[in-house]
Amino acid sequence: MRTTPRHASLVALSAAFGLVAAVAACGNSSSDSLAGETFSGNPDPATQNGSASNPGSGGTPPGTQPGASGADPQAASNPNIDKRKVNYGEALRTASLKLVGELPALADVALMADSTNAATKAAYESKIDAMLSDPRFTARQIQWWRDTLKTGQQGAPKNGMPSFDTAATFAAEVVVTDRPYTDLFTASTNTCPTYANGKFTDASCGGTGPTAGLLTDPGIMSQYYANMAFRRVRFVQETFVCSKFPAEFTSTPTPMGGGVYTSPWNFNSISGGNAQTVRVNFQDTSSVVCANCHTSMNHAAPLFANFDEKGAYQKDIQVKVPSTGTPTAKLEDWLPGGESFAWRNGTTVTDLASYGKAIAADADVARCIVTREWNFAMSRADVVNDLATVPPVVTDPLVADFTANGFKLKRLIRNIFTADDFVKF
Ligand code: HEC
Repeated sequence: MRTTPRHASLVALSAAFGLVAAVAACGNSSSDSLAGETFSGNPDPATQNGSASNPGSGGTPPGTQPGASGADPQAASNPNIDKRKVNYGEALRTASLKLVGELPALADVALMADSTNAATKAAYESKIDAMLSDPRFTARQIQWWRDTLKTGQQGAPKNGMPSFDTAATFAAEVVVTDRPYTDLFTASTNTCPTYANGKFTDASCGGTGPTAGLLTDPGIMSQYYANMAFRRVRFVQETFVCSKFPAEFTSTPTPMGGGVYTSPWNFNSISGGNAQTVRVNFQDTSSVVCANCHTSMNHAAPLFANFDEKGAYQKDIQVKVPSTGTPTAKLEDWLPGGESFAWRNGTTVTDLASYGKAIAADADVARCIVTREWNFAMSRADVVNDLATVPPVVTDPLVADFTANGFKLKRLIRNIFTADDFVKF
């Protein structure tokens, strides 16, 4: 087996088929999966990073074909793409429903009558701008972020539980007030705002813990509370990187036990080895190579370990180990002595603030939000749960513009809603 990344993926593919066993080992095959459906690994790591082409994930609406942006040589030979015509009236209706939740005024649709006229294009684009500063857009964004973060609640928090709305509200505020998207991971203050009567009211989340954007939001920490804090790490991976674990692949996979070790980390960098002395053997390879996922996960999970079930930060570790007696976890349950925390292999961090900075700097994270916004605009399904990935030929220019212009989501949304692929039918 050669060791090009492509081959690494193929090797990983066979490893991923062993996942059924991993699910049992993780105790997460019950109903408590992140998306409310049975957790099952993506059987094809090659499609995981939101950058591979996506054969038939629930229909392909206009404009999502790989050749859509014209850079793909296949585009010329796709008659359906060539036949599309600009239709600003149709685009305005779709955009309006998505951005402000209502159909446009008839008079505005009438303005779009002649789609071949340059003035119509300008009129359409100014309507998009108007919608992005409409108060109804703010309300829609809060709902969009509730959906994306899988949070939200009816009424006031109950029984000492935190608000499950502050994270979505904070994310919407970052969008609407044109702050960089990276503030979702790096903001060090006022990350628990509320929204009422068309106004954001800034507030800190309270408590004694660190603040790193919405990563430290009590509602998020409570929602994703689980043994050893792995579900919190999974939330970050799936929501902001747009793929399931395993998250990292080496170019030199090694056959090991019942599978293949595909992670770039030193195999001994996580706890395990001697099943007599460790409570969970993350170096087990008998049915599945735990380390393929857990090398990445174990270097980050302890950062989230001090948040309790209600999302409050405590001085000591709060999460439990699913072994006899369900003891409270200790650092050595995840990592052998001397191991640093990390976002990725080679990206060491010391605390949640530096973890947030590392996430903000990761190119896959920028691509992920572009993919999510694209899927929103094009009425496509979820990039992780439905494998609705978007090919790089489509996302590349958007990612480049987003990254070069301060990570502004309104600008990204405008770029998508005015793109050829959006206005042609
Ligand atoms: C394909 C990636 C993957 C592999 C392989 C894998 N895990 Fe996990 N593991 C996860 C994820 C993701 C979670 C978090 C699941 C959740 O709570 O939503 C998890 C959670 C866990 C948990 C906490 C479960 C609980 O009760 O909440 C333990 C313990 C664990 N894994 C141990 C193992 C062991 C031991 C192996 C090998 C036998 C293994 N895992 C293999 C991805 C993996």
